[in-house]
Amino acid sequence: MRLGKTPIITAMQIERRVAELAGQISRDYAGRELLLIAVLKGSVIFASDLMRRLTVPVTLDFVRARSYRNTESTGSVECTFHPEQSVARKHVLILEDILDTGRTASAIVEHIREGRPDSLALCALFDKPSRRVVPMTADYVGFTLDDRFVVGYGLDYNECGRELPDLYVLDEE
Ligand code: IMP
Ligand code: MG
Repeated sequence: MRLGKTPIITAMQIERRVAELAGQISRDYAGRELLLIAVLKGSVIFASDLMRRLTVPVTLDFVRARSYRNTESTGSVECTFHPEQSVARKHVLILEDILDTGRTASAIVEHIREGRPDSLALCALFDKPSRRVVPMTADYVGFTLDDRFVVGYGLDYNECGRELPDLYVLDEE
């Protein structure tokens, strides 16, 4: 795996933005309890940093989605791991690492909605809106990116690079 020499977003910039998001979410959910549902595996680092900065009480659960992609137009997504606790009558916030085509988030939102939560919102640390195939907008977005494959802070390339504190662009050469 070859990465760009310098990070496109540094750990410090991520830390600052995560703190801002946490502030915004804490204000929006003041007086309520929040169920965070982190999408495995990419969002675990984001989820662990974000939840420690929230000032509302939270519980944490996970979902996992697998995408079957032949061509860009035939990709379908299936939830392969489900939250342990019921989402019914809860205020649910889904945490995604990155919104790309939007298929994963769309399938997860649909799946969670079937459990009848009181409210449902989506927070994506990174967003590549130019890549969208299905309509999907996050309620909270950390950083908007161009159409480049990025690695680090939980995001992988073939399972590698998740541990990097900064965010890098994958160098395809
Ligand atoms: P989507 O279903 O096309 O929106 O893809 C979302 C998922 O694809 C994310 O949760 C990531 O696991 C993966 N993904 C999309 N873009 C990137 C990227 O630039 N770097 C690493 N993973 C990515
Ligand atoms: Mg991935």
